[in-house]
Amino acid sequence: MTQDEMKQQVAEAALEYVQAGTIIGVGTGSTANMFIDALASKKDDILGAVASSEVTATRLAGHGIPVLELNDALTQVDSLSVYIDGADEFDPGRNLTKGGGGALTREKIVAAASDQFICIVDQSKQVDYLGAYPLPIEVIPMAEELVSGVAIELGGRPVVRTGFTTDNGNIIIDVHDLKITDALAVEDRLNKVPGVVTNGVFAHQGAHVVLMATPDGVQVL
Ligand code: A5P
Repeated sequence: MTQDEMKQQVAEAALEYVQAGTIIGVGTGSTANMFIDALASKKDDILGAVASSEVTATRLAGHGIPVLELNDALTQVDSLSVYIDGADEFDPGRNLTKGGGGALTREKIVAAASDQFICIVDQSKQVDYLGAYPLPIEVIPMAEELVSGVAIELGGRPVVRTGFTTDNGNIIIDVHDLKITDALAVEDRLNKVPGVVTNGVFAHQGAHVVLMATPDGVQVL
């Protein structure tokens, strides 16, 4: 089974978590894209979807799925019923790193507004410790050097993502060579640095359920 076939399988499995009559949150990336395509078959069941990026909003709308701004959605409902998105890595505690596609800030906001985060991944994303995949940090441009210094203190090697601006007009610093043994502590430490908009550790907003595709089927973790 190819990696794309595994992503397809897990994207379809996530449909089970879509509750009729609710507003859901939808993530960003190649696995999320497959979920959006699968969601088209249930588009008349839900009130709408909140997108974690412009790319996702465009894809949802292309299928005729109603796209709501988060603020408008939260005037209709107390919370989104579920947030469905991929990840770059997940650890045994269902802590994640995200932001490979640069959409981490909106992803974390939509995840925080949702009752449940269902993370859809193939088995290549499973790790013992987060950090082998470079950790993205969205940063207000004037804080680049300040944030890079803290990343070095944490044992990382910061590299500014070239030619990339986030949906919010900021830069991304990818931190290489981290070994994240305490995901909550690293998330909190980075959040304390002025100029950090969001970091890609999702420990406070970790997954409630990880659906992991394997050649033998989807595992629920
Ligand atoms: C987007 O910013 C990321 O957080 C994605 O969720 C993550 O990179 C996973 O993407 P894939 O599904 O393409 O691997």
